[in-house]
Amino acid sequence: MIRVYKLFNLLFGVFVVNLTLCDAVDLNEGKLIAASVIFRHGDRTPVEPYPTDPYKDPKFWPVGFGQLTNTGKQQHFELGKWLRQRYNSLVSDKYNPDEMIVRSTDMDRTLMSALSDLSGFYPPKGVDVWNEEIAWQPIPVHTVPEKLDDLLAAKKSCPVYDYELKKLYKSAEFKAYDKKYKPLYKYLTENSGKKVDSLQSVQNIFSCLHIEEIYNFTLPEWTKAVYPKKMFEISGLSFAVKTYTTQLARLKTGPLLKEILHHYKNKTDSLTPKNETKRNLWIYSAHDTTVANMLNTLGVFKAIGYHNPPYASSVLIELIQLQDNYYVQVYYKNSTEPILLDLPGCGTACPLNRMFEVYKDVLPVNWDEECTLSLLQMPLDINVEESLSLVTIFGFIAVMLFVGMIVLIIATVYKRRDYLSEQKWNSLNNDSFIWN
Ligand SMILES: *[C@@H]1O[C@H](CO)[C@@H](O)[C@H](O)[C@H]1NC(C)=O
Ligand SMILES: *[C@@H]1O[C@H](CO)[C@@H](O)[C@H](O)[C@H]1NC(C)=O
Ligand SMILES: *[C@@H]1O[C@H](CO)[C@@H](O)[C@H](O)[C@H]1NC(C)=O
Ligand SMILES: *[C@@H]1O[C@H](CO)[C@@H](O)[C@H](O)[C@H]1NC(C)=O
Repeated sequence: MIRVYKLFNLLFGVFVVNLTLCDAVDLNEGKLIAASVIFRHGDRTPVEPYPTDPYKDPKFWPVGFGQLTNTGKQQHFELGKWLRQRYNSLVSDKYNPDEMIVRSTDMDRTLMSALSDLSGFYPPKGVDVWNEEIAWQPIPVHTVPEKLDDLLAAKKSCPVYDYELKKLYKSAEFKAYDKKYKPLYKYLTENSGKKVDSLQSVQNIFSCLHIEEIYNFTLPEWTKAVYPKKMFEISGLSFAVKTYTTQLARLKTGPLLKEILHHYKNKTDSLTPKNETKRNLWIYSAHDTTVANMLNTLGVFKAIGYHNPPYASSVLIELIQLQDNYYVQVYYKNSTEPILLDLPGCGTACPLNRMFEVYKDVLPVNWDEECTLSLLQMPLDINVEESLSLVTIFGFIAVMLFVGMIVLIIATVYKRRDYLSEQKWNSLNNDSFIWN
């Protein structure tokens, strides 16, 4: 992906510079007309403590493992209030289902975060007050089971993605990481009581230690040598891996980016008839990986610095109208104020049409088709395991063809012999059938 952007810069360098200069002047006069927010859930308990974890007893985590805590609810309540301020011009005070929609991954903590967020965003007012005892109203949050979710959870099966990810891990770059981090993996394996042999497995322990630190638990002595610094670097990198190449980004986060850009395209198309769509705000409640994947797919994650997106961090993708032109601006709000991102090849205010060009390679055309693994697409030299299984398959086909040919030859020979003997028999018969 990086390479593509470099190419872009080379080809359109001058153009981009001009564009950026123009935009910087103009956009303050623009009008915000739509926004999409992708956020991480709030404070949670560890998903899975490691075997030697002194805090692995559930008594330390009264809400259960991997669950949203009261702190997490509060973080999203605050974020909801903040979003209301920022997007007040897009969405009425009174809840109107046509104006906005919320989608969450199908996990307790993301669903609960979305609900907490909405309690800050939509305090009931006027006729919406339905019960004087509670300053809250129900707002729908939509979801689909993770296995079917190719949009937000991005957990629907995609064999080409899995294959490409494996290929990445076998690449020279990642083999070098393995080599570099081997001593650390060994140290963590010995001390955590769990096999640590990948970036992801380091991330899992990092995340657990980080939570325990937030909860003011004293971490074991052995962690001092590796936590947070050494583990942070690996953990951060693990968040970049899932969208490390153009194809990985396209299959993992492409559907979500595509949906957002198409919402905007539809919106700008329909602004002429005016009555087409009233929806101005889309909220997506998801995970650290979702936030990191989006940042990386947009090509800005490395520049920000690979890291674990904190609780309730958000990517804000905003559509701004200036006369008859439409621009996209992207902000990243970690836990403080949002920072405006400089999109590679398009700057801090990217014309909507240019978004489709700049991100062409990460927008899938037909995701289901692109996820289908075909034997012929696979190069043979990926790795021993896969090559072996491929060799097995091709070998099997070759053997079958060979056996088939032999059978055919034998059959032909026999048929010919039968034919000859039949002829003999016939001729003999001809002699014997004298009474005929
Ligand atoms: C941890 O300690 C800090 C400093 O004393 C305190 O502000 C914070 O609330 C504590 N966190 C928790 C979860 O108890
Ligand atoms: C955009 O509009 C078209 C035509 O109405 C519709 O088929 C499509 O689903 C819309 N796309 C999105 C992302 O809403
Ligand atoms: C938009 O409004 C026009 C005029 O009232 C109407 O003819 C048209 O069907 C409307 N379009 C939609 C999609 O509602
Ligand atoms: C949030 O971003 C700011 C500015 O980029 C940075 O200084 C700060 O450390 C970040 N906070 C977290 C929790 O990541």
